[in-house]
Amino acid sequence: MCVGTSCYLKGSYNLLQRLLELAKEHDLQDRVSIGATFCLEKCSLGPNIRINDEVISGVTEQNVKEIFENHVLAKL
Ligand code: FES
Repeated sequence: MCVGTSCYLKGSYNLLQRLLELAKEHDLQDRVSIGATFCLEKCSLGPNIRINDEVISGVTEQNVKEIFENHVLAKL
């Protein structure tokens, strides 16, 4: 999860915490690596997350669970 200034100001830290919670809820702490990253150079579209090599923009409290399900859970 990008925690560069722009994404951070749009709530990315809380989104990162939510992702960590989702991983824990699904007992995936040992199977996925979730962390903070610096600017992904798509600031105006943020908050941004990179999952493997794909950058997903516009992450919100409303869609973060769906993104986790579709881009993490579905690919395990
Ligand atoms: S601060 Fe997140 S993409 Fe630049």
